[in-house]
Amino acid sequence: MKERIYNFNAGPAVLPEEVLKEAQENLFSLPGVGMSVLEISHRSGTFDKIIGEAKGDLKSLLSIPDNYHILFLQGGASTQFAMVPMNIMPPKNKADYIVTGSWSKKAVKEAKKVGEVNIAASSEETGFDRIPTELNLSDDASYVHFTSNNTIYGTEWKTEPEVGDVPLVCDASSDILHKKIDVSKYGIIYAGAQKNMGPSGVTLVIIKDDLLERCPDSLFTMLNYKTHTEKDSMFNTPPVFGIYMIGLVAKWLKNMGGLDAMYNLNNEKAELLYNCIDESEGFYKGHAQKDSRSVMNVTFNLTNEELEKKLIAEASESGFGGVKGHRSIGGLRASIYNACPKVAVEELVKFMKDFQQRNG
Ligand SMILES: Cc1ncc(COP(=O)(O)O)c(C=O)c1O
Repeated sequence: MKERIYNFNAGPAVLPEEVLKEAQENLFSLPGVGMSVLEISHRSGTFDKIIGEAKGDLKSLLSIPDNYHILFLQGGASTQFAMVPMNIMPPKNKADYIVTGSWSKKAVKEAKKVGEVNIAASSEETGFDRIPTELNLSDDASYVHFTSNNTIYGTEWKTEPEVGDVPLVCDASSDILHKKIDVSKYGIIYAGAQKNMGPSGVTLVIIKDDLLERCPDSLFTMLNYKTHTEKDSMFNTPPVFGIYMIGLVAKWLKNMGGLDAMYNLNNEKAELLYNCIDESEGFYKGHAQKDSRSVMNVTFNLTNEELEKKLIAEASESGFGGVKGHRSIGGLRASIYNACPKVAVEELVKFMKDFQQRNG
């Protein structure tokens, strides 16, 4: 087997080779520190610099305005499904949710434990194959929640939903940093790191400071955003290694030319795969409607399950990992996050064309 395969996993997912090599080199001893990043105190000057640079680089990559806090928390995006409503649904105790897949549904389930949820739109009826175009927003919602990229179904919002003055909350777990966004349009953006930013175990939360007024003092300390903004993500021991890795990934993104350059590359990769699907005359069938297609997760099916199993087995033998669709919907999925090199996609397309020729 090759030392490294072409990795199309949905998350945890591929990381840039340069980042892995730097982490590997420094894992025994950080230059000038004499200890690994796994061994240093989070209260040390060394770590202060690591977390400061990670925040600074994210701030510049995403042009995050000064009135936003950047937090590194634990518990995954799934904990944010609960923290968002606990903290900012009061005092109105009502929120709008746009349901575009399983992750949005999980967010709704948690929000319902706090207050009233209005489903402003849902694409469930059509198998979550599209991004809704019509929203039925309530006039007294505390916020509107949406999932910018639907990892399982392979759909993605091309622009933010229009919600007027109501704070927009976004689960950006699977497309954060894949392009520039206008952060000032959002109240909260959260994302587990393990798809497009780093390893699992750290969750990025970007929160506008005026929302902190809503966080009830009655909340458990660790579940209150104010605890973490007041202590700059250092109320307790933060996920030191994950933050260090996010910092390396952010530096790598800057070296790659920033998010506009990355977005161009991401579009090129996605186009290769979608063209292969569209030109296959029905041998490969994309799950998402064309105008809702994700640039990060390309989902598709073959004409029958047997053939899908065969493709997955042969792909694995040929050095392609992670092309099996999510267990809840089956089919195939290639996750082509920032760190997935274009050559991996080119090779996958060659393999898919060859597979079609032999089995079509
Ligand atoms: C869009 C989205 N939201 C939330 C999650 C759950 O994240 P976590 O495992 O970090 O809780 C995932 C994937 O794992 C995801 O793809």
